Amino acid sequence: MTTQPAYSHDSIRAVIWQGDHLRLLDQRRLPADEIWLDCHSADEVAAAIRDLVVRGAPAIGIAAAWGVVIAAQRDPGHLDAALATLRAARPTAVNLMWALDRMKAAIVRGADAAALAREAQAIQDEDLAANRHMGELGAALLGRGVGVLTHCNTGSLATAGFGTALGVIRAGVSAGRIARVFAGETRPWLQGARLTIWELLRDRIPATLVADSAAAHLMKSGDVQWVIVGADRIAANGDVANKIGTYQLAIGARHHGVRFMVVAPSSTVDMSTASGADIEIELRSPDELLAYAGQRTVAAGAQAWNPVFDVTPASLIDAIVTERGVVERPDAGRMAALFGTAR
Ligand code: MRU
Repeated sequence: MTTQPAYSHDSIRAVIWQGDHLRLLDQRRLPADEIWLDCHSADEVAAAIRDLVVRGAPAIGIAAAWGVVIAAQRDPGHLDAALATLRAARPTAVNLMWALDRMKAAIVRGADAAALAREAQAIQDEDLAANRHMGELGAALLGRGVGVLTHCNTGSLATAGFGTALGVIRAGVSAGRIARVFAGETRPWLQGARLTIWELLRDRIPATLVADSAAAHLMKSGDVQWVIVGADRIAANGDVANKIGTYQLAIGARHHGVRFMVVAPSSTVDMSTASGADIEIELRSPDELLAYAGQRTVAAGAQAWNPVFDVTPASLIDAIVTERGVVERPDAGRMAALFGTAR
């Protein structure tokens, strides 16, 4: 059972449970091809997460939860191995560990495959509901007729649906608050260019692509009043790990008087991580930088460093929007007031 879209500007679902396997819209192939990949084992789900068939913090948590269900249906004697394989798929987005901890707790309570499927469905449904609520909360912070710049892809492709930062943009467009949407291309994997622009066009939201390196120039032009991004992990002091390039956007925004909003469900908040310095940043293959669309673009023998996330300090963030509420000017005290001292 998949919750169907009920809002305007919200038609895309990329993670679909089929009763005995998981169907994923292959995000490596968008926008040229809309191809679905079927996963029939926890190992296949873990590989799909690792290889970015499915990506975005909430979506990988949801996919991993369904991976546990497949393991419970097909190989219930090896659930711990399945949990470990899924957990190791990617290191930075805490939603992955959060979802697996929740599935593990259900297993400890004695859940069978059917009960685990209900838990995975609850994780997916709660994410969609959180996104819709955050959309309303975040849109309410915007003025009227504003321009926004977003980064990476935080939409239906990255979540159960509607999206986090892109959910605020969907809600803001629906409410007539947003006049212009700019999306950074998000080198090197091009989540912004390939996925966000496709998603927005599909849902009839006009958007303009900019090179990542055009962001400061765009902010100086006055066409953007808010930068709105998602998160992969939010530490107890309000520091935010998100797609590489987010940190430089926050610096540029502060310099130009542009406001900076982070939108993420509470499953992205990790109160057991004290600060951004404690967050593991995923390093991916240098080949993602050294080649483009399978074609080598850099001289043979060159080296490349490819961290795919960075940490934006809380001091550069105007608001963190979660489904539990908004933390303005986040710091450890304000985070603890909303989330307690440990999750
Ligand atoms: O490497 P990715 O594409 O999984 O990175 C995704 C991001 O950084 C998103 O901004 C984040 O996961 C939030 S998605 C709602």
